[in-house]
Amino acid sequence: MFNRIESFVEENLNPLYRAHYALWIYWWPVWRSAYSGSQIRKYWDKFGLVKPGQSFLDYGCGTGCFSLPAAKIVQNAGTVYALDCFPRQLEITKKRAHKAGLANIVTMLSDEKVQLDDGSVDVVWMCDVFHELMQKRQVLEELHRVLKPSGILAIYDDWTDKVPAFTEGLFVEDSRDRKIILLKPIS
Ligand SMILES: C[S@@+](CC[C@H](N)C(=O)[O-])C[C@H]1O[C@@H](n2cnc3c(N)ncnc32)[C@H](O)[C@@H]1O
Repeated sequence: MFNRIESFVEENLNPLYRAHYALWIYWWPVWRSAYSGSQIRKYWDKFGLVKPGQSFLDYGCGTGCFSLPAAKIVQNAGTVYALDCFPRQLEITKKRAHKAGLANIVTMLSDEKVQLDDGSVDVVWMCDVFHELMQKRQVLEELHRVLKPSGILAIYDDWTDKVPAFTEGLFVEDSRDRKIILLKPIS
């Protein structure tokens, strides 16, 4: 199904949309590597979010701009699950991980369900994805399921103000700063 969606986007959309699509696909990693990625990762340090040995889910990983740095921090005792709904993003993430010699990144193709056990993840990282989610509540329920009771869901987005409207009974706010909100799962 996902491949069919990609083919549709590539083959049928008008040239303007195609240019916009190409801009995001090809320039986004450049923008992330050159500037915004390191700025956003300062929040990892500020909140002590990523640590060696963790199970880290990068939900909506895109081309892996956060999956790769996370994999370096969690080291081989930990695992980064890089999940996205577009196969092309995952292919790029895989290639980048291979090139960087990182063997602790597992890619996952999905637009909602996470193929991981209940209570198995330390951190869910969702950067610039929340506003794109069609099924926000369903995705949050799934993230609640896979997080350990001591785990953290970190959402970086322009829409963090809208997050609490979808988290009732699932998460409580732990901390917040500008565009990032950290949430703890409710047991
Ligand atoms: C703006 S990009 C952000 C990528 C990456 N997190 C970053 O900050 O560089 C949003 C990503 O979320 C993915 N995405 C959107 N909706 C999704 C869903 N329901 N499930 C999984 N991934 C999704 C898109 O395919 C895209 O790769």
